[in-house]
Amino acid sequence: MATIRRFDHADAPAVAGLIQRCLREVNSRDYPSELIERMCDHFTEQRIKELATQRQMFVAEANGIAGTVSRDGNKVYTMFVHPRAAGRGIGRLLMRHIEALAVIDGYDRMETGASITAHDFYRRLGYVDVRSTETDFGFNYILRRDLP
Ligand SMILES: CC(C)(COP(=O)(O)OP(=O)(O)OC[C@H]1O[C@@H](n2cnc3c(N)ncnc32)[C@H](O)[C@@H]1OP(=O)(O)O)[C@@H](O)C(=O)NCCC(=O)NCCS
Repeated sequence: MATIRRFDHADAPAVAGLIQRCLREVNSRDYPSELIERMCDHFTEQRIKELATQRQMFVAEANGIAGTVSRDGNKVYTMFVHPRAAGRGIGRLLMRHIEALAVIDGYDRMETGASITAHDFYRRLGYVDVRSTETDFGFNYILRRDLP
């Protein structure tokens, strides 16, 4: 089973590689290649290190880094699970981890922006649609979930 821990700067190459692999192998189903490559260019090692200073970033370990997520309060960012580790509950584990931290901080709901690719994953986890939006990285859904 996967374990979750805080991101360390030494994880940046693995996390950037994982995100880029997800984008090219999974999100490419739903977004044009030009957009996928723009996102890959965005999520460099350096950018990951910067984001980790602005948000709480986590990794899931299961024979290496198998997933990542970050949060800023009750907002979810950079939720990615390596394609070889998908479908084993790692995404759910990461989400429940940051939701529990948001509850401790006093939030009563969680909010996320979801790619077309991840939309049904979030709905499976109890998130409901609020609206949709066009971002620099294409069409996204905005969803939220009331926290227990
Ligand atoms: C979306 C993603 C994070 C899911 O991670 P995962 O570890 O495979 O998900 P889990 O195994 O924890 O799945 C939890 C539940 O969601 C369901 N689920 C997962 N991905 C799904 C999908 N794409 N469509 C429908 N249901 C999905 C699972 O079947 C499971 O349901 P269950 O309760 O019946 O068991 C992962 O596939 C991914 O990284 N995708 C590409 C990157 C991406 O789009 N990230 C989000 C950016 S907003």
